[in-house]
Amino acid sequence: MKILDTLQNQLKKEPNYITDNGELKKWVIISKAQSYDPELIELLLEDKDVKDNFFIEVKGALVFNQSKFIHFLEQKNYLNDSYTSYKNKVGLNIDGKYLKQRNEVSLVFPFKDCILEGGQSREEDKREEIFFNEILAQDEITQLLEPKVLTNSKRYTTNGETPLIKFNRNEKGNITDNLIIKGNNLLALHSLKKEFTGKVKLIYIDPPFNTGNDSFKYNDSFNHSTWLTFMRNRLIVSRELLKDDGLIFINIDDIEEAYLKILCDEIYGIENFINIIAVKSSTPSGTKTAHRDKTIIKQKDLILVYKKGGSVLLNPQYTKRDKWDTHYSLLLEKDNNDEYVLNKLVDRLKELQLISINGKLDEVNIDNKEFKEFYLKNADKICRLQSHKNLDADKISRTKKNEVYEHKVDGLSKGLYYNGQVITPLSQGIKRVYSNQKFVNDLAMLLCDFWSDIDFQNTQNEGGVSFPTAKKPETLISRIIELSTNENDIVLDFHLGSGTTCAVAHKMNRQYVGIEQMDYGENDSVKRLVNVINGEQSGVSKAYNWNGGGDFVYFELKKFNQYFIDKITTSNNSDELLIVWDEMKLKSFLNYNVDIKNQEKHIEDYKRLSLVEQKQHLIEILDKNQLYVNLSSMDDEDFNCSDEEIIITKEFYQKK
Ligand SMILES: C[S@@+](CC[C@H](N)C(=O)[O-])C[C@H]1O[C@@H](n2cnc3c(N)ncnc32)[C@H](O)[C@@H]1O
Repeated sequence: MKILDTLQNQLKKEPNYITDNGELKKWVIISKAQSYDPELIELLLEDKDVKDNFFIEVKGALVFNQSKFIHFLEQKNYLNDSYTSYKNKVGLNIDGKYLKQRNEVSLVFPFKDCILEGGQSREEDKREEIFFNEILAQDEITQLLEPKVLTNSKRYTTNGETPLIKFNRNEKGNITDNLIIKGNNLLALHSLKKEFTGKVKLIYIDPPFNTGNDSFKYNDSFNHSTWLTFMRNRLIVSRELLKDDGLIFINIDDIEEAYLKILCDEIYGIENFINIIAVKSSTPSGTKTAHRDKTIIKQKDLILVYKKGGSVLLNPQYTKRDKWDTHYSLLLEKDNNDEYVLNKLVDRLKELQLISINGKLDEVNIDNKEFKEFYLKNADKICRLQSHKNLDADKISRTKKNEVYEHKVDGLSKGLYYNGQVITPLSQGIKRVYSNQKFVNDLAMLLCDFWSDIDFQNTQNEGGVSFPTAKKPETLISRIIELSTNENDIVLDFHLGSGTTCAVAHKMNRQYVGIEQMDYGENDSVKRLVNVINGEQSGVSKAYNWNGGGDFVYFELKKFNQYFIDKITTSNNSDELLIVWDEMKLKSFLNYNVDIKNQEKHIEDYKRLSLVEQKQHLIEILDKNQLYVNLSSMDDEDFNCSDEEIIITKEFYQKK
């Protein structure tokens, strides 16, 4: 143990060998040892114990025992490796307790403690995902998740695109800009930690549902575990970004819902589960119904809702009633003595010819213009009788047979009563509801956990971008934002897709952060948000009187080896791959144990591999810690960071 501590202390004297978290960058040290880096050797020689351990004397000359040194570091990695210790235990356990000894339901799946980088960048690509714990040890994963350098940053305003000079911050120093981030969502979330921990009010995500036909194209043979790992990694870090009274809404369907519920119970705590909302997302028609004699056709999406932990205050939402509530059958009027009396509503409606000759309230058309004007104008007079719990009022009112009685306490009115029942005016059931692209006050019902009133059919071109299979209606997102946030709260979506969440947040005056890693070209979220600031009128624009304005900041995570992975993945043949390999030799970071000369020596063998194997091999030899440029490596010349990148990155992380 002693030599490990001594070595660590000695190595930590060199700032370039330490991560932001104060841990050793073993991969850097190992690669420096591979090339007999003079500075490393000098540092090792400074300490007597280290010198005695890793150098041998031959005829008066000191020789660096490179293999022993590297082996030593690797072995220490191995001992720290979380997956290995996980696998080594016989039986599955949580917190060191075997499942058999625990009473709760738990989701245990293979590779649960690994990191799924999930680097797919084009929908059509399929990727055999790398399970990082098979390759990297735990402390190396820490570097994978280190904050990244920002690149290609710009500000979009109504005047177009301008270079980003700085972020806007409030008096507390918090960023107040809307952000659209392009890059791997797991790594982007980790990069947001410093600036956004505990600040986000709402997370809405609409991840791939893992239907088998969607864009979740990783490891078919291990698909279910892969999906759970993918979700788990992202849910854990994103939870940290939530405020204490923050909420997460996860849009999903029944394929993964039950598993996701258990996973979320584990991450959020079962006591923080709020509800699962069922949203009617399609109508049974066309090819969808072809198998109706073999299965039950799916018609709904589900939205899992959790709170972070603190108490939350929701803004209850209402939906428009489509029928008259026949309980409202009375009219409260004053007689000649200025006393309240109750008359029949139907009689008045007949007088005004607003009701059929049958005089049935349930036949009345509530959208009839004249009738609507009548009931909105008379909402305080139209009423129903209901039971109640005010015993005093009950008692007195029963003594005043067939009289309207106003119950007062200390001179203040506590409501009207009639024969022991309370008189409830229609006005209590009139709320702000969404109708014909506008918010209006109308007859309403409280929205609970079943939302059947959202139009999923006509959203194809919302925002001026097309996203045929997966775009969510703006009205769905605006309802979630209304329910759970207030103006200027921060909304986060790390599966941004076509940008619906941010487009709606922008129109509703919420601050937002959107992350997307896929390249959607012409239908990118940036294009949609540019349309929004220019005042596009689809979706919920009319409801929020949206006429354009505002701005947003765009940036990417600076790619390094990910650039090569993208190139390898999209190569069509061996020749293209060989060109990528030539570039990799010059510019990429290869795993420390890859010898380029050996690679070249066996190039003919390599060419004999299938295209898939050739791709797999090239991806395998890349150092996965260097997919994106780490903040701690920004000043390292090898990564070629421009002055602009350095300025904006420092600004973002508030680094001197
Ligand atoms: C259904 S879309 C979200 C659509 C979005 N709500 C909207 O209205 O436009 C699914 C999201 O999951 C992400 N996603 C899908 N497959 C993925 C994969 N294999 N790896 C990483 N992210 C993926 C996509 O990038 C997209 O942002």
